[in-house]
Amino acid sequence: MTMKKIAVIGGDGIGPEVVSCAVRLIENLDVDLEFIPAEMGLECYRKTGSFIPDATMDALEQSDACLFGAVTTSLEEKKGPSILFLRKHFDLYANVRPVKRLHPSVGLVDLDVVIVRENTEGMYTGIEHADTDGVTLERRVSEKASRRIVRFALRLCKDEKRRRLTCVHKANAMRMSDGLFRRVFFEEASNSDIESREMLVDAAAAALVLRPKDLDCIVTLNLYGDILSDEAAALVGGLGFGPSGNIGDRYAIFEPSHGSAPDIAGTGTANPIAAILSGAMMLRYLGEYVQASRIEKVVRLGLSRGVKTIDVGGTYKTATFTDALIGMLDEV
Ligand code: NAI
Ligand code: MG
Repeated sequence: MTMKKIAVIGGDGIGPEVVSCAVRLIENLDVDLEFIPAEMGLECYRKTGSFIPDATMDALEQSDACLFGAVTTSLEEKKGPSILFLRKHFDLYANVRPVKRLHPSVGLVDLDVVIVRENTEGMYTGIEHADTDGVTLERRVSEKASRRIVRFALRLCKDEKRRRLTCVHKANAMRMSDGLFRRVFFEEASNSDIESREMLVDAAAAALVLRPKDLDCIVTLNLYGDILSDEAAALVGGLGFGPSGNIGDRYAIFEPSHGSAPDIAGTGTANPIAAILSGAMMLRYLGEYVQASRIEKVVRLGLSRGVKTIDVGGTYKTATFTDALIGMLDEV
């Protein structure tokens, strides 16, 4: 069997700080992977003149999956591809964001939910038209993208033994577009034994706080999933607790759902759990189920012993937190 290859893109800000923790932890497991470091982002642009050099695209093309940190996107300048470019390029149509409270001492709400977010269209087409008085955005909802994301979510429920799938939309206001998504959801769900529900997105935002047990798996449109997943991560401890996978039919990129956090970059205080758990998702994607669950177990074990970073009241730094987890690996 040939060794699986993983492209590793740290990116900007805290991206490299947290991704290196995930890599170090994985290197201490019983799994043989070859890591191929690659560059992308604003720092890379300043150094090489390119936001995403050809060598990085080659590394991605040659690998079985990618572990990604975050890149800084300037709101002033329009140039520079973000993770949106890679999602489109590899047709990574499903963004999977599991959010779970790992210990009673972190977070506010006992959530255990997987948010499956449509990752290719919706509000993120990037097609905007200016006229004399303003800008109109083309928001796209297609039958094809809706059907494949709903099918993906139903399959995920089956695989992960989640019994209820909630379709989150705003079809009362966006009758045709979200109406299409809703119709496709109920068509597909009727052929499945997963319990199907629907919820308007504003009500879903409240339900995450007030009735977390009602939510098991959510399938939703791009922007709604983006916002609800940050909210959900915040409820279980903060943005440092939100792992994610961008998954397509032939490739996948795993990344913490937070950004490059320029406000804390370089201080060594970033919480690497989201990146580490994204690494666990990647191992599961590669079929390494036992090693993936060891990562999840060691994170929970650490939290139960007060091994915590500063954002959740602990004393550990990004690197010492990771060292401590590595030291506990033989217990899980
Ligand atoms: P952000 O997620 O980077 O940070 C928001 C807040 O959460 C900040 O106060 C930050 O310090 C904190 N935070 C985030 N991750 C943390 C962690 N692991 N541990 C402790 N605290 C953490 O979002 P923001 O500030 O809106 O964006 C910063 C940059 O990141 C922007 O240029 C944005 O475009 C980019 N970004 C990139 C993403 C990607 O590459 N996938 C995703 C989201 C944002
Ligand atoms: Mg986001």
